[in-house]
Amino acid sequence: MQKLSMIMTCWLISTSAMAADKDSREILMLSEAQRGHVLQEMRGLLAGTQEIVAALSKDDMAAVSKAARPLGLGMAHKAEDHLKDALPKAFMQLGMSLHQHFDQIAADADARKDPKLTLRQLSDAMSKCLACHDAYQISTASTPGQPAQAEEHQHQHQGHSH
Ligand code: HEC
Repeated sequence: MQKLSMIMTCWLISTSAMAADKDSREILMLSEAQRGHVLQEMRGLLAGTQEIVAALSKDDMAAVSKAARPLGLGMAHKAEDHLKDALPKAFMQLGMSLHQHFDQIAADADARKDPKLTLRQLSDAMSKCLACHDAYQISTASTPGQPAQAEEHQHQHQGHSH
């Protein structure tokens, strides 16, 4: 009990310290529609991840594969057209490597049927969710209080070589 209350105290201190910090993650300037696409994909990732965990709890490797497939590179290619010019390269690469993880999870669930292996792979994949969420936030030009104009100005000088 005492140990638990100590853990709780530490948790309270660290979360209140975090709340006091300004959100200093890199800002992605997107249109409302682009933001909608990103967040919709995100909710798909969360839902799919939940399905994988549920399937694993029943050792149902066919269901693991079925849940992981739609989160693979196919998902990325659907979103790419709308977004690839709007998002930084590092962001796209992190996203692509996450989708590759899910293709691997699906393939190994079919071929090797080893729940412990899938759990390890899922944990590795989810460390990419964490890394990206630690690094980026989304803003739209209509969000009050964000430096939308300064960002816009910088981008005008970059041209469209890629
Ligand atoms: C390449 C970057 C990246 C990766 C990888 C990533 N996310 Fe996100 N995610 C974001 C960004 C950016 C936001 C918006 C954060 C903000 O503006 O505060 C977001 C938001 C979300 C949201 C909120 C959706 C909403 O409707 O508000 C969920 C849920 C989410 N992500 C789940 C996940 C899960 C689960 C994974 C891993 C399986 C994941 N994300 C991987 C970048 C990423």
